Amino acid sequence: MGPKEIEKILIVDFGSQFTQLVARKIRELGVYSEIVNSKKLSKLKDYKTIKGIILSGGPLTITTNKGIKLNEIIIKTKLPVLGICYGHQILAKRFGGKIKISKKREFGRAIISKKNNCLITKNFFNKNSSIVWMSHQDIVDKVPKGFKTIAYSDNSKHAIIANEKLKYYGVQFHPEVTHTVKGKLLIKNFIFKVCKIKKIWHTSKQKEFLIKNIRSNVGNNRVICALSGGVDSSVLSILLKKAIGNKLICIFVNTGFLRKNEENEIIKTFKKKLKLNLIYVNASKIFIKKLQNITEPEKKRKIIGHLFIKIFEKQMKKMKNIKFLAQGTLYPDLIESKSVTGSPTSKIKSHHNVGGLPKKMKLKLLEPLKFLFKDEVRRLGLKLSLPKEIIGRHPFPGPGLAIRIPGNINSHKIQIVKEADFIFINELKKHNLYNKIWQAYAALLPVKTVGVMGDGRTYEYICLLRAITSEDGMTADFYFFKKSFLQMISNKIINSITGINRVVFDITSKPPSTIELE
Ligand code: XMP
Repeated sequence: MGPKEIEKILIVDFGSQFTQLVARKIRELGVYSEIVNSKKLSKLKDYKTIKGIILSGGPLTITTNKGIKLNEIIIKTKLPVLGICYGHQILAKRFGGKIKISKKREFGRAIISKKNNCLITKNFFNKNSSIVWMSHQDIVDKVPKGFKTIAYSDNSKHAIIANEKLKYYGVQFHPEVTHTVKGKLLIKNFIFKVCKIKKIWHTSKQKEFLIKNIRSNVGNNRVICALSGGVDSSVLSILLKKAIGNKLICIFVNTGFLRKNEENEIIKTFKKKLKLNLIYVNASKIFIKKLQNITEPEKKRKIIGHLFIKIFEKQMKKMKNIKFLAQGTLYPDLIESKSVTGSPTSKIKSHHNVGGLPKKMKLKLLEPLKFLFKDEVRRLGLKLSLPKEIIGRHPFPGPGLAIRIPGNINSHKIQIVKEADFIFINELKKHNLYNKIWQAYAALLPVKTVGVMGDGRTYEYICLLRAITSEDGMTADFYFFKKSFLQMISNKIINSITGINRVVFDITSKPPSTIELE
């Protein structure tokens, strides 16, 4: 939990995949916020520093789960409330509004039109309309007494409602996603114009807050940190070093699924340059052995997660006083693997450091970055004076190349994909494209196709290239390369690597695809 003395906005989580985006938007506006699971609200004792409450969206529906009620604690606080999507409906219902299942679902882009003015929609409309992002089937059919309709869409006749006397507001759409063009402004109006909260939260406060929290959690114990050399675990190691000094021991595991030359570079940077207490474990043989003939993506992830823990526990036995395993888990890893607050969200894949962990673990997990997004972690890294080359690196998943080789994995395939990735990334750097792209990699598809080289027939693998742009890894779009670049890359990969006779470029966004293949 956050600093007690700081004014905050409370976000009541009903299980939306976007709840953390609300918190993030509020942080960007210079304000501190805390998320609580809607079921744990009864424990809410001290609301002196809370200046307003936001009710999140969620997968539940009021029309099918008829018994659902808004927790009366929220009303007792007499604080301003903003309900989003499901939060909008549950708020309307509490005051006597009617909710019904709409004949038409409303998903994605929608235009809402202005009917009345209110504080949260100041400058929100452009010529009386605004573009928003909807995701719902239930609608508010009748506005509660004391509320007025501020805006409507084709499908939601009460898309924004307000009771300005009580300072209660409800919006059917999601102001927290970037597709709602003026969503951040609406949140800004709510927290500053309605809640009148002070702007005192910035990255350096976040750094101090994280360091303070780590110190009080860890006490006199020692911590081992899983360092992969990626942005998240690098920022985490430096943060931990600042917080607990030599009580930190970093362990870098070579899974055999690392990028070309990665192990040498990590040892050089972290041990020699940044003077971290680093143990190098080469476990590549055991990882490859355990993954032999494993083709199911979730199984691969679970095996990798378990092996990581086994290795850490083995190392731990050699040391004294180790109580914690620190991991650079970020919010998108969590949201896709399980819910952060225990609210119901749907599982997409088990990130190796979350859903891939065994149920019984001897080490206690320490995950100080778990509420942050990648760009926030990068800013934190800058505040910690981490070298720019490390902060700017593309994300690399813990299971590494293993999830970029769908199907059976063997040393030959690993070698091929290492080389292809090395060529691709080097060319991106040479052409000044690396920093314009959020993440790029080469993968090896488990199909062989026929080709012709030097008048002869070939029957070899397909290399898939992926390059995406993104803000936070939650959504992504493919990067639009020039034809000449793709041509050059394709030639270079095929001419340099035996085993590939076809190169394809992935043109799917996330959603519907994910960034990695598995
Ligand atoms: P997806 O494939 O879920 O990836 O769209 C989103 C971001 O997370 C990274 N990723 C992982 N990172 N352990 C990690 O540390 C994992 O198991 C894992 N799976 C995906 C992925 O590279 C992308 O940046």
